[in-house]
Amino acid sequence: MAEPFLTVTGLTRRFDVSKPWLNRVLEREERQFLTATADVSFAINKGETFALVGESGSGKSTIAKMIVGLLTPSAGQIAIEGQAMDPADPIAMRALRRRMQMIFQDPFASLNPRWRVGDIIAEPIRTLGLMPRGDVGREVATAVGSGGAVSRRCRQIPARIFGRPAPAHRDCPRTVLTARIHRL
Ligand SMILES: Nc1ncnc2c1ncn2[C@@H]1O[C@H](COP(=O)(O)OP(=O)(O)OP(=O)(O)O)[C@@H](O)[C@H]1O
Ligand SMILES: [Mg+2]
Repeated sequence: MAEPFLTVTGLTRRFDVSKPWLNRVLEREERQFLTATADVSFAINKGETFALVGESGSGKSTIAKMIVGLLTPSAGQIAIEGQAMDPADPIAMRALRRRMQMIFQDPFASLNPRWRVGDIIAEPIRTLGLMPRGDVGREVATAVGSGGAVSRRCRQIPARIFGRPAPAHRDCPRTVLTARIHRL
């Protein structure tokens, strides 16, 4: 059988939630650690949709952040097509990151509200060096659409194009996502 696309083995992440050093010394307290995920293992094949389900605070986002390289595991291993991720190897990590993308829970919070749409789309292209810098503007304009509205759209902030979330949505980000899924 073909190798899984993603293999996660014994993934563990602890967060240091200790009080500041001076407080610990004065209050004679030890360092404190919170184990967000402990010994998690699973594999995902290419083309497979995988849902990680658990109650709030059970460590789902922590696992996702480790997979995309936003957090370093305390223990365990993540492999993409058999190639183990090594956070100490920035060149290999950069190559792997190009193949993964996070879709955040709250789509409104995932776009910087102060940035122009054109800059938001251009940032990863520039950061990953996907094309000569001089070509990025034209490529972004093509992605946004064609015609005279293009340059205007690129200069707008996200809220001008996508609208602002209703107050009820801000209280419950999942509602936003669910509403979008229903619309698809
Ligand atoms: N940077 C951090 N520092 C300290 N503790 C953290 C940090 N990030 C997450 N945690 C803790 O780790 C645990 C797991 O959090 P996580 O966000 O992964 O849960 P989740 O399953 O995604 O929850 P939700 O369904 O609410 O999104 C929680 O107790 C959380 O408070
Ligand atoms: Mg989460």
